[in-house]
Amino acid sequence: MDKERLIFAPSTKQYTRATLSRLALNPDPVEQFHGWFDEAKTQNVSLYESCTLSTAQLPSGRVSSRVVLFKELDKKGFIIYSNWGTSKKSKDIKSNPHAALNFFWRELERQVRIEGRTEFVTPEESQAYFSTRPRDSQIGAWSSPQSSVLGSREELDGLVEASAEKFKDVETIPCPPFWGGLRVIPYEIEFWQGRPSRVHDRFTYTRESEDAAWTLSRIAP
Ligand SMILES: Cc1cc2nc3c(=O)[nH]c(=O)nc-3n(C[C@H](O)[C@H](O)[C@H](O)COP(=O)(O)O)c2cc1C
Repeated sequence: MDKERLIFAPSTKQYTRATLSRLALNPDPVEQFHGWFDEAKTQNVSLYESCTLSTAQLPSGRVSSRVVLFKELDKKGFIIYSNWGTSKKSKDIKSNPHAALNFFWRELERQVRIEGRTEFVTPEESQAYFSTRPRDSQIGAWSSPQSSVLGSREELDGLVEASAEKFKDVETIPCPPFWGGLRVIPYEIEFWQGRPSRVHDRFTYTRESEDAAWTLSRIAP
């Protein structure tokens, strides 16, 4: 096999499950998202609540992405939870508040792309979610200097043991001050439905500001 250049044969997969039309779409993209998310959930799409969060650091412009779990959708936007002390995404967001989320529901042949500005949720909101997490995950959040270089696995295990010891007599573990929710407040949301021969259906909702009405456009695949 030629290791210098890897070339794949064209995929023969055809997307045939569904179609998407303007008439079928809700005028409100958040309602539309709820509908598709519920379908992903009820149709047992694998890891339906996982999505890719992309961020970009300024001034370098370097882009990074990672999978996170989508946890809440409120009137303002889409919320994910993470470490905002040491992580790479934290450095990106602190220099550039814009971010994107991407959901791919393979079994439904659907993709949703969300772009928006971000804001941190309040400490009370983060605490409310943190309190629902299993105790071991709470201890894990306290222990891990996310994305920092570690000398060894033992070092990490030691950090976890130290947190477990610190909280051993504490009934309700508080949310770490460096951990919590990030809300992506959308200014663009695209719904993609795969169609045969790569002639897919794509619709994008855009708005100029958070109080403005959404404009819906069909866009080319
Ligand atoms: C299925 C899956 C779910 C994940 N969920 C989260 C999450 O909700 N929050 C989080 O911070 N990291 C989550 N991660 C880990 C991230 O992908 C990533 O490794 C971590 O957040 C550090 O990213 P960063 O260095 O770019 O900041 C998840 C990974 C996978 C594969």
